Amino acid sequence: MLKHAVLLQLVAAMQRKPKGFLYLDTHAGRGGYDLNVAVRGDTLARIPEWPEGIGRLLAQADLPEMLREYVVAVRAHDRRQGNTAAELRFYPGSPALVGAKMREQDRMALCEQQPDECAALQAAMARTPRCAVRAMDGYEAVGAMLPPPERRALLLIDPPFESEREFADIIRAVGEGLRRLPDAVMAIWYPLTLRARVDAFFDGLTHQALPPTMVAELEVASEASALKMRGCGLVIINPPWQLLAVVQPGVTALSRCLSQGAGARAACTWLVPER
Ligand SMILES: C[S@@+](CC[C@H](N)C(=O)[O-])C[C@H]1O[C@@H](n2cnc3c(N)ncnc32)[C@H](O)[C@@H]1O
Repeated sequence: MLKHAVLLQLVAAMQRKPKGFLYLDTHAGRGGYDLNVAVRGDTLARIPEWPEGIGRLLAQADLPEMLREYVVAVRAHDRRQGNTAAELRFYPGSPALVGAKMREQDRMALCEQQPDECAALQAAMARTPRCAVRAMDGYEAVGAMLPPPERRALLLIDPPFESEREFADIIRAVGEGLRRLPDAVMAIWYPLTLRARVDAFFDGLTHQALPPTMVAELEVASEASALKMRGCGLVIINPPWQLLAVVQPGVTALSRCLSQGAGARAACTWLVPER
């Protein structure tokens, strides 16, 4: 929710200029998710996670701008997919959220390496114009697709963090991307499992001669919690003007909404301040 809500703000900011841009989703997933299937699982019933996530957000009134706009986009996707019931059924992934916002002058490139996910993504995005789905390594795509002819790009780097190399791969891809297009706007999602690991990641990033970069971080419980992933964050490279003013209240409200007991926390900081 954090990454999708911020992503929508980034798309809106890119679209404040008439010139088109490339949206590159390096780890795109399947496009969107049917929450009914997630409940059933492949064979056994599972305990659904969404009531404690998007379910809580949908039940909340008086949301700040960033979350209000996100909720509108989630509801719109659910309706477009054909749900007429009040309860949410179709939950949008990053490709569906961004696909719904594309203008005629904008383009999407979506990379998904896992064949079944890629096939589902291809089907989900088949009717979205100017959208290329690629069964390829998203890190390779950064070198292959930048700089785009438009000379404007928004990247979402959202890997599964299943490999030990993930942070190192991200740092390398960011360095390559910035060499090819120094003004590229990049959003990188990371899990908050070990603080020290995240700090080492930030250290590695700052060695890439980073332009202005902000971090939005969210924790739903304290370090004492038994939760495996207590929170997550988003690194935003070259954030658009005044993004922090919209993201800060949004992240704070989201941490309160998703709180799993004492210790919920939100922070928006500069890794490299604006000049
Ligand atoms: C966290 S999910 C992406 C979710 C999606 N960005 C969204 O917000 O809806 C990560 C995806 O990356 C895919 N993946 C893993 N390694 C990859 C790689 N090197 N290149 C491209 N896709 C990869 C996985 O199969 C998985 O579907």
